[in-house]
Amino acid sequence: RMPILEQCYNLMDFEAVARNVMKKTAWAYYSSGADDEITMRENHSAFHKIWFRPKILVDVEKVDFSTTMLGTKVDLPMYVTATALGKLGHHEGEVLLTRAAKKHNVVQMIPTLASCSFDEIMDAAEGDQVQWMQLYVNKDRSITKKIVEHAEKRGCKGLFITVDAPQLGRREKDMRVKFDDVGSNVQSSSGEATDKSQGAARAISSFIDPSLSWKDIPWFQSITKMPIILKGVQRVEDVIRAVECGVQGVVLSNHGGRQLDFARSGIEVLAEVMPVLRERGWENRIEIYIDGGVRRATDIIKALCLGAKGVGIGRPFLYAMSAYGLPGVDRAIQLLKDEMEMNMRLIGCTSVDQLNPTLIDTRGLSMH
Ligand code: FNR
Repeated sequence: RMPILEQCYNLMDFEAVARNVMKKTAWAYYSSGADDEITMRENHSAFHKIWFRPKILVDVEKVDFSTTMLGTKVDLPMYVTATALGKLGHHEGEVLLTRAAKKHNVVQMIPTLASCSFDEIMDAAEGDQVQWMQLYVNKDRSITKKIVEHAEKRGCKGLFITVDAPQLGRREKDMRVKFDDVGSNVQSSSGEATDKSQGAARAISSFIDPSLSWKDIPWFQSITKMPIILKGVQRVEDVIRAVECGVQGVVLSNHGGRQLDFARSGIEVLAEVMPVLRERGWENRIEIYIDGGVRRATDIIKALCLGAKGVGIGRPFLYAMSAYGLPGVDRAIQLLKDEMEMNMRLIGCTSVDQLNPTLIDTRGLSMH
C-alpha cells in the first residue's frame, strides 16, 4: 500500500514511493542517468565526503536561512531546477511546481522543454513571484531569439543557458521503455517531428545546437538584459572564462548525471573552483550555484560553506509531485526548511552569511 504523505520524512522517501506508483515511461525518464549512472550516484555520495566542524555555545535561538539569489530574496538557498516533461509525472505538470515555489518563496527555473506552455507557467505565478528560464539553444537562432525576448518581456529574472548537452546523453533505462507520451507543446517548441524509438530524452532534443560556443555569448548579451548564467560548468578554467565573458553566474552541474558519465559532482567541482576565485579576488564577480544529488539541508549547508550562493534540486520534486501532487512538493520543501533550521542550529550559525569553509572538513574530497 502507498504510504500516506506524512510518512515521508525526507526527500529520499518520495523517490521510493514514486518508483512504485509512477508509469514505467515516466519513472524511466525521470530516474535515468547516463551510461552506467556512476555520476548520478556520485552526485549524492560526494556530499558524504564532507564533514562538519560545528561551533558550540552560540546563541542559536533565532535562525534565519533566507538569502538572495540573482538579486531575489528567497526563504531558502534553494531553487526548483528545470526538469523537462512535468506532465509525465502529474497531469498538471510544471504549474504545480510554480504554486509550491510560491508558497515557500523559492525560485522556479522553467525548462525549455516544459510540458505546460511557457506562458501557462508564467501565468501560474502570483504577485512578485520570481521565475528563471532554462534555455536549450536552437539551431535556428531566430527561434532562440524569440524565446529569450519573450521570456524577458514576461518578466523572467534570469537566463540559464544549458551548456552540458550538445548531444543528449544515452539514458538506457529511458531508451528501453516504449515512449509515446510526448506532449504537444514540447513538439512545437522543438519544431520537429519526434523519433520515439530512442526514449523520451532523445525524442525531444534533436533541435539543440551542438555548435554552440563561447563565441555566441556576446550575442546572448546583446539580445537580453536578463542576467546570464551558464548551467553545466564542470571545471575551474571554464568558470574563469565565464567571469571574463561577463556572465553573472554559473551552475556547477552535470545535469543530474544524465549527460557525461564520470563527470564529477557539482560539490566536488565547487571545492576546486572557490579557492581559485578567492585567490584572484573574484568571488564577488560571479554567483556560483551547484546542483545534483542535493537531498538534505546538510548538503545545502555544505555547498554554502564552500561558497555557493544556492543549490538547485530536481528529481525529488518530480517524485513528490508524481506521488502526491502539490501537497507532496509542499511537504518536500517544508522538510528541507525544517532540516535547515535544525542543522543551522547544530553547526552554530544563525544566518547564511556566517557559513564559511572553517565549518567543514573537506579532506575526504579527492582533490586533497
Ligand atoms: C533534468 N535536467 C535538465 N536540465 C536542463 O538544463 N534542461 C532540461 O530540460 C532538463 N531536464 C531534466 C529532466 C529530468 C527528468 C531530470 C531529472 C533532470 C537537469 C536538472 O536541471 C538538474 O541539473 C538535475 O536534475 C539536478 O540533479 P538532481 O537534483 O535531479 O539530482
